[in-house]
Amino acid sequence: MTVRPACDADAAAFLGYKRRPECQAYVTRTVDTLEQSTSLIAERLDEPDSLLCAVLVDGHVVGDMGGRRYRPESLGPEPDVHDFYLGYTVDPDRWNQGVASAAVALLVPALHRVGIRRIVAKTFAENAASLRVLTSNGFCHEGTERLAVLGRDGRWLDDCTLAHLAT
Ligand SMILES: CC(C)(COP(=O)(O)OP(=O)(O)OC[C@H]1O[C@@H](n2cnc3c(N)ncnc32)[C@H](O)[C@@H]1OP(=O)(O)O)[C@@H](O)C(=O)NCCC(=O)NCCS
Repeated sequence: MTVRPACDADAAAFLGYKRRPECQAYVTRTVDTLEQSTSLIAERLDEPDSLLCAVLVDGHVVGDMGGRRYRPESLGPEPDVHDFYLGYTVDPDRWNQGVASAAVALLVPALHRVGIRRIVAKTFAENAASLRVLTSNGFCHEGTERLAVLGRDGRWLDDCTLAHLAT
């Protein structure tokens, strides 16, 4: 399994799984067309604080992972550090083969190495696979906002915050 920065040429591969309903159930921004996939990659590459990576197995793109760095809140001067919101999606044909867990295991130390202080992931309480990916990588469950987000199916969902701190 390898992780590399995403590029324009990944748009078709990303679309192949991102348009599947099981990939869209718990994500904010959905991708249903090649144009949307291309724009998503272009926007992320343009944003200096964003990161978008392709996850590959045997040379084939099977997922994506990335996020955005931001300055933590402060009561005083602006802190000279960044925190990071992490997100990921894996092709359902590859679910439960350890792909996301391995990708997160690669990215988390790399982010801390470049100075990220706190890596935060938000995931819905019923997204058991995502919770498992995070907790098995040392993320701590910090809290749950109850019935905080309206799901695509009209149900209100509990939203969990997990984080991994640089030691
Ligand atoms: C979340 C997601 C990325 C996980 O990818 P993955 O490559 O299948 O994850 P892994 O195989 O590394 O790990 C999944 C773990 O969850 C467990 N799991 C899967 N479904 C489960 C369920 N319904 N209940 C409990 N555990 C479950 C697996 O057994 C595995 O645990 P293990 O490592 O102890 O064996 C994938 O399901 C996905 O793309 N979902 C849609 C997008 C999404 O929800 N992204 C996260 C938004 S926060």
